[in-house]
Parts: sequence; structure tokens; C-alpha cells
Amino acid sequence: MQILPGVHGSAQMIGDTGNSDTKHWLDAELRSDHAGETGAVAIYSGILAATSDPELISFALDHRETEMRHLALVEEWVPVAGRSRLLFAWRMAGFATGYLPDFFGQNAVYATIDAVETFVEQHYSAQIDRLATHEDQAGLKSLLVRCRDDEIKHRNQARGRAAEPVGFFLNAWCQLVSIGSAGAVALARRF
Ligand SMILES: [Fe+2]
Ligand SMILES: [Fe+2]
Repeated sequence: MQILPGVHGSAQMIGDTGNSDTKHWLDAELRSDHAGETGAVAIYSGILAATSDPELISFALDHRETEMRHLALVEEWVPVAGRSRLLFAWRMAGFATGYLPDFFGQNAVYATIDAVETFVEQHYSAQIDRLATHEDQAGLKSLLVRCRDDEIKHRNQARGRAAEPVGFFLNAWCQLVSIGSAGAVALARRF
């Protein structure tokens, strides 16, 4: 079995017939990746809409540029028909995830990004681990590794700027963000 970028840039599988489980898994995972990168761009747009803090503006502009690059790369692998039907909802949820914490200050924004990027790192790492046994899927795996490594940088930048310790309510908010991210991925895999 082999996954190749298709004529229109879509992910395609060729080869073995006994791998419909893997194809099904991969279609669902890529749909969630595309939804996630769509939401990631929106998170940073939400921060930019809410803040007038020069440090946060430069942080969000820099991160959004990376997320836009991720989205463009993932779009090459996910045909329009394979994308989530809930993209509008992912954009709205992402925007709110970036916009709302700004009301509680810079630290809340950094803690939120730390929570989101920690989740995304684990999400990509699980996919990379499963693809590790598929040597003929090196192209897709290297894309996921590239995205995952950028997310780790984002998380570390946010963590490095956040003040310690995180208070009770901020911690509860970050837990909510993680649970919400997991719920969004579960939905985006299916719809
Ligand atoms: Fe990303
Ligand atoms: Fe990121």
C-alpha cells in the first residue's frame, strides 16, 4: 500500500486491497488534521481581534503564519470532498478559543496556547507512530513530523512566556480547552 499526493493534491492509496481499515483510518485522521489547522488559524485570528498588546500581536502573527502554511500543506493531501462538513464551526470555535482568554490577560492567552499545542502535539505524534510501520508513506509522515515539530515550538514559546503558577480558574479553562479539542477531533474524524 502506498499513499501518494493525487492529481489534485488529494491523498490517495494504491496497492493492497486488505488495507481498507488503514485507508478509513487515514481519511478520518486527515479530515481531523485539516479541521484542526483550520481552527488553529482561527485561534490566532481570534487573539489578533481581541488584543492591542504588541507582544501578543507579534506572537499571534508569527504563529498564524505557520498555521496558514500548515493548512496549505494539509490541503494538498485532503481533497475538498474529504474535508470536514463542519469547517464553519471549527473556525468559530477556534476564534472563540483565541478571543476569550484575552479578557483575562496575556497569561491566559499563553496558557491557552500551551494547552492547545500540547493536545495537537499528542494528536500528530499518535498518527506519526502508527505510520512508522508504513515505509511507503514517508511523504505524509514527513509532513506530519514537520507540523508536529512546529506545534512543539509554539507550545514552548507560549510556555516560556506564561507566568507560573496557573491559578484554579485558568487551569479549569485549559482543561476545558483540552477536552473541547478532543471532542472536536472526534467529530471532525466523522463529519
Ligand atoms: Fe498547525
Ligand atoms: Fe500550532
